[in-house]
Amino acid sequence: MSALFQPFTLKGLTVRNRIAVPPMCQYSAVEGRANDWHHANYAGMARGGAGLVIVEATAVAPEGRITPGCTGIWNDDLAQAFIPTVRAIKQQGSVPGLQIAHAGRKASANRPWEGDDHIADDDPRGWKTIAPSALAFGGHLDKQPREMTLEDIERVRDNFVAAARRAREVGFEWLELHFAHGYLGQSFFSEHSNQRTDDYGGNYENRSRFIRETFAAVREVWPEHLPLTIRFGVLEFDGNDEQTLAESIDLTRRLKDAGLDMLSVSIGFSTATEARIPWGPGFLGPIAERVRREAAIPVSAAWGFGEPGVAENAIGNGQLDLVMVGKAHLANPHWAYHAARELKVDRASWTLPAPYAHWLERY
Ligand SMILES: Cc1cc2nc3c(=O)[nH]c(=O)nc-3n(C[C@H](O)[C@H](O)[C@H](O)COP(=O)(O)O)c2cc1C
Repeated sequence: MSALFQPFTLKGLTVRNRIAVPPMCQYSAVEGRANDWHHANYAGMARGGAGLVIVEATAVAPEGRITPGCTGIWNDDLAQAFIPTVRAIKQQGSVPGLQIAHAGRKASANRPWEGDDHIADDDPRGWKTIAPSALAFGGHLDKQPREMTLEDIERVRDNFVAAARRAREVGFEWLELHFAHGYLGQSFFSEHSNQRTDDYGGNYENRSRFIRETFAAVREVWPEHLPLTIRFGVLEFDGNDEQTLAESIDLTRRLKDAGLDMLSVSIGFSTATEARIPWGPGFLGPIAERVRREAAIPVSAAWGFGEPGVAENAIGNGQLDLVMVGKAHLANPHWAYHAARELKVDRASWTLPAPYAHWLERY
């Protein structure tokens, strides 16, 4: 019996298996608007059998986009552009999720295949960025952000709340707040990017305030019966990991008390120079398991779970509750079907819809 193909229930929602497609930016929107590419892409992932499909980092405000091609949900019109995507994911039997995000000091960049670097200040395609402190990320992302005022902090929190409400209105059933990967939420938490001296910087209590307040405000508008999750970098691999992990686990416990349903365990990516990441198959599994155990909360993780055996073990060994399979889904949207075959799941074709499955069973 495969652990990967057991259903997973969280709040009032049951995901048909433990396979999730993590958010993956398509950099293909125009002025924030999702289009036919997004519908086709996400429908394909859902058809392939994943239980949960989380739509890419979608900006809560125009200046929060990573690139000019990122999707946004800062008004109702943009939200409605997601309706065909939501319907397609649901029609294929997957749960439609959305990640809402603000890229902070990493915003205003060129698309990965156009350089991945910051758009030059005098280029009209770009915009001014904001962050907890006026510190550039460094390396290829060298644009200096403006330090956020208290009014900015309130506004962005309200942007997250409005985005969450819109996400629900257009039918998303799973919401993830993007507080990872050096974007705005993570950059408040990390000392690499936060040098504020007010209530939002300095000690752990203050550095975690933006995340706690934004989460609590979103919790008030997101329905109680549907999962509300965050993606968070619980460590940086910068040599200070025991302290960061201890703070991260404490923060997770506090968020859980405030209504967090699950944590997507990830990496901070807050420093361009100091991280030494031990890439390898399933390498975040033991860290996610520690968060799961010490904070007593369901967890997921990505990064290197794309081999079916690695994914199966992460669920079977109790490291993860859901396994995020990213790039392997880009290579093969029917990843779940192939994983089921490789793991010798009885009637693997059941992971596909009948118009496909029927023929694969027969011959
Ligand atoms: C094209 C691409 C876009 C991505 N966009 C996002 C994103 O929008 N939000 C996010 O949290 N992570 C994003 N990621 C990271 C993935 O969610 C995932 O963590 C990463 O691909 C590692 O998992 P994998 O080894 O299974 O690919 C992106 C990754 C890729 C390859």
